[in-house]
Amino acid sequence: MTSKANNQPMTPKSPSPATRIAELRQQIEDANYRYHVLDDPDIPDIEYDRLMRELEALEAAHPELASPDSPTQRVGNAPSAKFSEVRHAVPMLSLANAFEPQEIHEFVARIGKETGDFEPVFSAEPKLDGLAISLRYENGQFVRGATRGDGATGEDVTVNLRTVRAIPLRLRGKTPDVLEVRGEIYMPRAAFERYNKWARENGEKTLANPRNGAAGSLRQLDPRITAQRPLSFFAYALGEVEGLKLPATHSQTLALLRDFGLPVCPQVTTAKGAEGLLAYFEQIGTQRNDLPYDIDGVVYKLDRYDQQRAMGFVSRAPRWAIAHKFPAQEEATTVESIEVSVGRTGAVTPFAVFTPTHVGGVTVVKATLHNADQVARLDVRKGDVVIIRRAGDVIPEVVRVIEERRPTDKEGNPLHPPFVMPAECPACGSAVEREEGEVVARCTGGLFCPAQRIQALFHFASRRAMDIEGLGEQFIAALVEFDYVRTVADLYKLTLEDFLEMKRRADEVTGATPATAKAGKVATRWAENLIAAIDASRNTTLERLLYALGIRDVGESTAKTLAKHFGALDPIMSADVDTLRTVPDIGPIVAARIAHFFAEPHNREVIAALRANGVHWKEGAPQRSADGPLAGQTVVLTGGLAAMSRDEAGDRLEALGAKVSGSVSKKTSFVVAGEAAGSKLAKAQELGVEIWDEERLLAFLAGHAS
Ligand code: IVH
Repeated sequence: MTSKANNQPMTPKSPSPATRIAELRQQIEDANYRYHVLDDPDIPDIEYDRLMRELEALEAAHPELASPDSPTQRVGNAPSAKFSEVRHAVPMLSLANAFEPQEIHEFVARIGKETGDFEPVFSAEPKLDGLAISLRYENGQFVRGATRGDGATGEDVTVNLRTVRAIPLRLRGKTPDVLEVRGEIYMPRAAFERYNKWARENGEKTLANPRNGAAGSLRQLDPRITAQRPLSFFAYALGEVEGLKLPATHSQTLALLRDFGLPVCPQVTTAKGAEGLLAYFEQIGTQRNDLPYDIDGVVYKLDRYDQQRAMGFVSRAPRWAIAHKFPAQEEATTVESIEVSVGRTGAVTPFAVFTPTHVGGVTVVKATLHNADQVARLDVRKGDVVIIRRAGDVIPEVVRVIEERRPTDKEGNPLHPPFVMPAECPACGSAVEREEGEVVARCTGGLFCPAQRIQALFHFASRRAMDIEGLGEQFIAALVEFDYVRTVADLYKLTLEDFLEMKRRADEVTGATPATAKAGKVATRWAENLIAAIDASRNTTLERLLYALGIRDVGESTAKTLAKHFGALDPIMSADVDTLRTVPDIGPIVAARIAHFFAEPHNREVIAALRANGVHWKEGAPQRSADGPLAGQTVVLTGGLAAMSRDEAGDRLEALGAKVSGSVSKKTSFVVAGEAAGSKLAKAQELGVEIWDEERLLAFLAGHAS
């Protein structure tokens, strides 16, 4: 039991398993409802997970109490060979499209003519860019879910839909005999980004966009894969209904669906007449980039059912509704050139420069092509007409080349050859090399290369590094260009006069005359502020300094680990690869990079110069305990813990004398395996190393609390 449960007053008699199971199911469902429908969660994730685990344990101990609509039953059956077909009792329709305001006026006028209501009320809704589905509830229980398919017949994706937490397995309140709910399965944008980040880091295939992500995830034959995908759901229409008296309007139905526990998009509202609809279109258009989900327009539905009936249908679309779509987010443009940029670590990245083109409200002039492999995959060349896409506020990307429009010579051969990575760095002329097994090509010029120098200085000054406020990329570029700074240590020698002189020279180049100069004064405030910011950054911490140095693959967390483990800079500078490898979470590659960085005479000079220029940081003793109950023991942490972060668990084990290591070997004393532990757990099992679960760890820590 966790401490939280211990804090609760003990009931005189513990409830029967059946009662407790019912209670837990209700609590979990309530939490889902509050999160997905009310958008007002009241318990933290970790508490939710705790309830889930308690329920799982109880159900495992009492199989006779299992139920298909238990929240534990969302995840998991074995994969099926193929989906079976489902005939929709009420067909799933499509919508007519409109793009121009004129078409909306005509739509409303048509309704006026046939109903006599020239200012009708509509339900105005975002047009969600996901996948339409139908959910069937019988006596309140979710019994079947299907894709739209051709509108008449879809695919039975019930097991996959059960994994979507926004879909209630049981409706709330007094429920009708049959309720079919239509709505959209979508992948929230943040979840899409998170998923792709995870996929990139784990060598899995990334999703092209949230819509493809939703569709692809739902059509997985293995529901265990769907369960890992962050899908969500909004309800927006009804199918077959029995045993329920419907309200008079669509908007009242949506309110009813919410009461049943179904999530309805919060941006849905009502609007009156053509003007009201167009105002809604404008409003959603401005919100579009900030919405947590992708949309491709809005939908207007006549609100009163009697008016809907009067309008009826044409072919397979209602005449009482219309989709007002945003202009395409994809456009064609011409590649004027393919160039490369050089980053802080020397990464040479190709990017395409386009004929400026409007896409989804912004002018796009260039887009990254990521690396040479990506350029080869797309086979994009100078002169090509390409499709570019911008989804929401996502950076633009090249989708594909329109091959038929590739410029050719008289013989029909392509005018331009395929792109090749330059052999020399465009900024410094050093060789560009690509290590084996790497996708990224790098300039070998190191800090000799001005492009790398600018990026290295920019990183050094950034908020999470030395935090030199106001020293942005423009200033840094000028400082490097006019040769005021070569290394990060030079920043601490800059004077007010240097800044003012640099500004004068920069203004000369651009031909700008500052307003204050015209007035016979020289503005110095900005330079004074910069000097003060640089001065303030002199007093820093070892971990910030280590991060600021920009050692490849040493991010904030590695910097922190190093600082804690060694306590001071000198032992880090003199540590060899083997010593560095004993540090928890530092693997062979990173250990080699660190050793290599400090072996470089140039880097040692920079550090000496930083010290000479007054940069200082607090140093202390290494934080390793020589005694304590775990002295002499090597521990490995793997997987996610519910009660604390892995870092925190590591700190607490170290405080008890343990050495926390990043890799499992025969010498490992024990492995703490949390949620979703992977290869390290497998290795421990293989080597017969003792394995602790989180419960055992917590009990141990509690027993040895200081
Ligand atoms: S109502 C009879 N409402 O648009 C009307 N559809 O072209 C049935 N869609 O396949 C659909 N957001 O995937 C409706 N708020 C919304 C919608 C919406 C997105 C999609 C849906 C459907 C397509 C119709």
